[in-house]
This record gives sequence, structure tokens and C-alpha cells, in this order.
Amino acid sequence: MGMQAKKGADSLSRRSLPLRYGVAVASVALATGLKLLLDPLLLQQSPFLLLAGAVMVAAWFGGLGPGLVATALGALSADYFYLAPVGSFTGPVGAGFWLQVLFVLQGVLITALAQALHLARQRAEKSTLAVKRHQEELAGRERELHDLVGRLIVAQEEERRRVAYEVHDGFTQMAAAAYRRLALFAEHRLPEAAQDRKELEDAIALVQRTVGEARRIIANLRPTTLDDFGLATAVRMQVEELRSEDFDASYEETLGKERLPATLETSLFRVIQEALANVRKHAQTARVHVALGRYDGLVRLEVRDWGHGFDAAEVRRGGGPGERVGVSSMRERIALLGGSLEIRSEPGTGTSVVAEVPLPVTTGEEGIGGK
Ligand SMILES: Nc1ncnc2c1ncn2[C@@H]1O[C@H](COP(=O)(O)OP(=O)(O)O)[C@@H](O)[C@H]1O
Ligand SMILES: [Mg+2]
Repeated sequence: MGMQAKKGADSLSRRSLPLRYGVAVASVALATGLKLLLDPLLLQQSPFLLLAGAVMVAAWFGGLGPGLVATALGALSADYFYLAPVGSFTGPVGAGFWLQVLFVLQGVLITALAQALHLARQRAEKSTLAVKRHQEELAGRERELHDLVGRLIVAQEEERRRVAYEVHDGFTQMAAAAYRRLALFAEHRLPEAAQDRKELEDAIALVQRTVGEARRIIANLRPTTLDDFGLATAVRMQVEELRSEDFDASYEETLGKERLPATLETSLFRVIQEALANVRKHAQTARVHVALGRYDGLVRLEVRDWGHGFDAAEVRRGGGPGERVGVSSMRERIALLGGSLEIRSEPGTGTSVVAEVPLPVTTGEEGIGGK
């Protein structure tokens, strides 16, 4: 049957009952007529061969009922038109009767086979449908998850901004005020005793470091450099911070003058930040290279270290809740931008994190982390 099965119904049940039985009757009539027509040519040829063909057509096209009807009609037609005396029904006598019985058995067998095939096909069609529905469901869930991750990232970015402002406006201001007071005090009323002076100077240094630390925390939570001067500068500051920690850190930047969309800047910055945090935490090397460039319609970043590397497959397996989310969050951020992230690492040779993100044609400002 050349027809393609459509959704929701198999080929058999889509055909109407009259059509199925009509085809059964018509194919028997055709076989009978054909035999009558060909008789002068095919002398003595049994009529049952053509009639068996008619039963096949009927059973295949119409299923169980039409197959049986064609079998019964075929038997009657053979009796009437071919078995002596021709032109009347003979009934259960003579050799012709046994031929008829044989034909009926054959017809039932053919019909049963065709029916079994139909049922098997029905089952196959049903399971194909079920698989399709499953796939659609899965795709839907994946979309939802993707969506959720996007919103989580936005929420996280907002929360960081909020905490950064809070630390800046409350904690840092107070610590800075404390530092100024202590410094003034030291200027005007420096203690006589050397021991006391040292105590005071230590306290002042400590408060000063507290202020510095708070500023560092704020900068990491929401780097104002990123908002004010853009990605290239914000990353440069990260690299400089690494250098101040005695890293041999190189930086290659070919982003050009034009700012990237805020969404992109935030995400790329966070990816670089996490990659560098991993170098600090895990790589056990002092050599790191950061590259950031704009090419034909895309931005490419690379963070490479010459540390001891790791086995990506092993890492994927381990980690409790809240642990080892760095790599997956990098992946999610880049995926949300429609880009690709590749982490190449081999124990002993170091690690490279490479991300490529397509540049949007219009510089849309809304979305993840954008302000
Ligand atoms: N640059 C790197 N050098 C060596 N190992 C790394 C590096 N980056 C990541 N890893 C390995 O991959 C793991 C997963 O990293 P990540 O998802 O960021 O989680 P976390 O940093 O919290 O452990 C790390 O625990 C570490 O074993
Ligand atoms: Mg990490």
C-alpha cells in the first residue's frame, strides 16, 4: 500500500467499512471475470489460483472480515461458474467439493496471515507515535530547563549587584570611616611609647587591609570596571591582579573599540573569572594566558594554563550539590548565548578553556545580566 500512515490512526482503520468490503467483492468479481475471459487461453487451469489472489488483495486491503468474505464468495463463485454442472450450485459432492474445502482453508490462512501483519504494523505505528510524543516531551522539558537556567543566571547577577551595593554602602563605608579616624588619631595623638605606637600602626594597617579586601569583594561581585570601561579593561584588571599574585600572566586582546552588548560582556567576564579562579585553585602553575578577540561575527576567548590538567570525564562524575558548578555554569552561560565552549585538558599538559560566541546582528541590550 503506497499510502503513508498518518498520525493517530493506522492504515486499516482509516479506510471505511464499505470500501473495504467493496474491494473484497470487486476483487472476487474481477478474478471470476478474468478467469471467464481467459478460459479459451488457459485451458483446464484451476479457477482457484486467481481467486486466491483476490482473497489476498481483499485481506491485505480490508483485513479479517473482507478476507473471509472474499474466501466465501470465491468458493461460491467457483462452484457456480466452474465446477460441473456449470451455472448452478453443486453442493458437497464429488471431487470439486474437496477442491472448494481446500480453497476455503487456504483463504482463511491467507486472511489470518494478512491480519497478523496488520496487527504487527499497528503496533509498530503505535510505538513510533509513543516515541515521538516522548521526544517532544523531552524537547519541551529541555527548553524549560534552558529557560530556567537563563533566569537563574539573571537572578544571580542581580543578587550579586545587590550584595555589592550593600557591602559598598554599609560595610566598606564604615571601615573606611574607621580607618580615617584612626589615621587622624595617629596624626594628632601619637602615643609616646614605642610599643603603643606599633600597636596603633598595626591596627591602622589591619583596618586599611579590611577596606581593601571589601573593595576586592565588591569588584568581584560586580566589577564596576566592567560597567564603566567594558570587558577588555575588566579582564585586564583580572590579569593584573594575577600578576600581583606573582603569576606569569599574559593577555592578548583584539576586541576593538566598540563595546560588546552588555549581556555578552557580563557572561564572557564571568566565564573568564571562573576559568581564572580554577587556574588559581587547581592548576598548580604560575603561567597563564588569556586571549580575547573579535572576529568576523564572533567573539572568542581563551584561558590557557600550563598546569597539571585534569580528566574531564572523571570530574563530571564527582561533586556534591553546590560543588563543581564552575565548569557547568560556564557551559550554560555560553550555551545561552548560542555559543560553544570547549575545555581541553590532559593530565600533565595543562588546560585550555575556549569559548566562541556569535555576535548578535543588532546590539540588543536586554537579557542576561544586562543593565
Ligand atoms: N585549570 C584547571 N586545572 C586543573 N584542574 C582543573 C582546572 N579547571 C578545572 N579543574 C578541575 O575540574 C574540576 C571542576 O571545576 P569546577 O566545575 O570549576 O568546580 P570547582 O572549581 O568548584 O572544583 C575541579 O575540581 C578541578 O579538579
Ligand atoms: Mg571552579
